[in-house]
Amino acid sequence: MHKIDMDLVEMTMDVMKYVIDRISNTKTTINKPKKAEELKALVGETITKSGIGGEKAFELWKEHLTKSNVPIDHPRHLAFVPASPTRAAIMFDLVTSASSIHGAYWMEGAGGIFCENEAMHWIVSLTGLPEGAFGVFTSGGTAANLSAIVTAREYWRGLDTANENKKGLVITSIGAHSSIKAMAKVADVDILLVDTEDVMTADALNDVISGLSASQRKRLFAVVATGGTTNAGIIDDLNGIGTLCEKEHLWFHVDAAYGGGALVADSVRHLFNGIEKADSITIDPHKWMFSPYDCGAVIYKKPELAKQAHSQEGSYLDIFKDEGAHGFNPTDYQIQLTRRVRGLPLWFSLAMHGTDRYKQAIERGIELANIAGEMITKMDHVELVREPSLSCVVYRRKDWTPDDYMQWTYRNHESGFALVTPTKWKTGNSYETVSRFCFINPDTTEDDIEQILKSMI
Ligand SMILES: Cc1ncc(COP(=O)(O)O)c(C=O)c1O
Repeated sequence: MHKIDMDLVEMTMDVMKYVIDRISNTKTTINKPKKAEELKALVGETITKSGIGGEKAFELWKEHLTKSNVPIDHPRHLAFVPASPTRAAIMFDLVTSASSIHGAYWMEGAGGIFCENEAMHWIVSLTGLPEGAFGVFTSGGTAANLSAIVTAREYWRGLDTANENKKGLVITSIGAHSSIKAMAKVADVDILLVDTEDVMTADALNDVISGLSASQRKRLFAVVATGGTTNAGIIDDLNGIGTLCEKEHLWFHVDAAYGGGALVADSVRHLFNGIEKADSITIDPHKWMFSPYDCGAVIYKKPELAKQAHSQEGSYLDIFKDEGAHGFNPTDYQIQLTRRVRGLPLWFSLAMHGTDRYKQAIERGIELANIAGEMITKMDHVELVREPSLSCVVYRRKDWTPDDYMQWTYRNHESGFALVTPTKWKTGNSYETVSRFCFINPDTTEDDIEQILKSMI
């Protein structure tokens, strides 16, 4: 397995050919999943005592298995938060794998971590956080949010011994991503929700804080605002919330996992004013910074607080803390020890193309959302639920039931035409099923949008 022979050389060529074909292919099909039993029937036993051989396994992958994956970068994949990694970043993902780098400690991964940090300096510069702020790349937004919540909780516990045995409390809004609630559970803290899916304002937050009982107020240690909600691209009142958090001595976390890429876009940058007040920020390069999966990031105003929360101790790790190995150790600032240098593909793509190209590609996503908004306004059968925000458009097909939306999604997916999925929008106490676009891929065309909207007639 670890020797070089002809089979390996041939397999390397086959793999490189596949990769070149895939990344230069501008006509991917949307594909749909098959059931596990169907896939099993197609490929048979693949894990056997003596192996089925690389050629056969790769054939099965190309012939059957890859066709059961939906390419996230298809220009008519406008569901969830899609992705569109640059070709340069994908290539360097291969280089990252081939280089076998342990990205936890500078001692072993200095070259790779240096590159990650170059990319991180650029991301941090977009936030306007003060000198000294810095971050690390994580497996995604969920891990970044967890790392930030744990840092905030540990900081709060360290402030007062009375906090040590208390269960912490965090306030966010119902527009926040599901990972905030899920990670609060992992960190064993309670969550209170400001009842809005629209902009969370400082006033609304203040009302919730004022309504807390004395014991709840003592347990409250953090507020999570969103810089681009997943459902509608809404940016909370970061300035007002940041100021309130300062006054109330609360940790201010901004989840900009999806929207963070738009910090580089001049047309919307003002919407993020106040993000520079954050104690921590999540931004996912694998969403709107065109990195391959997986690549999230967590940034801290005071990274030393994250280090106090996350730095692992063990006799086998002492060597990494030794003078001779001093340097930046990414493991100290988030939940993971062994890690891929997953910021490396982003670094290469940024270095190759320059940050202006990122600005243009992100502005294009915003422009596509505005174009879609205008088209929807002009068509009779659809209407906007709210104005487009960032690259999200939430709209309704007049007179449709939830089942109509579902059937339309399945039909489009089945025929390989598009992937656009329904969501729910909360107004007052009621939830309405609606449709939603999220634009990431700058190669999506106006014609794609028009065709999708017309397929709803
Ligand atoms: C605002 C926001 N936060 C967090 C996440 C979770 O990120 P990940 O899926 O990378 O863990 C998402 C995912 O869409 C998101 O939109």
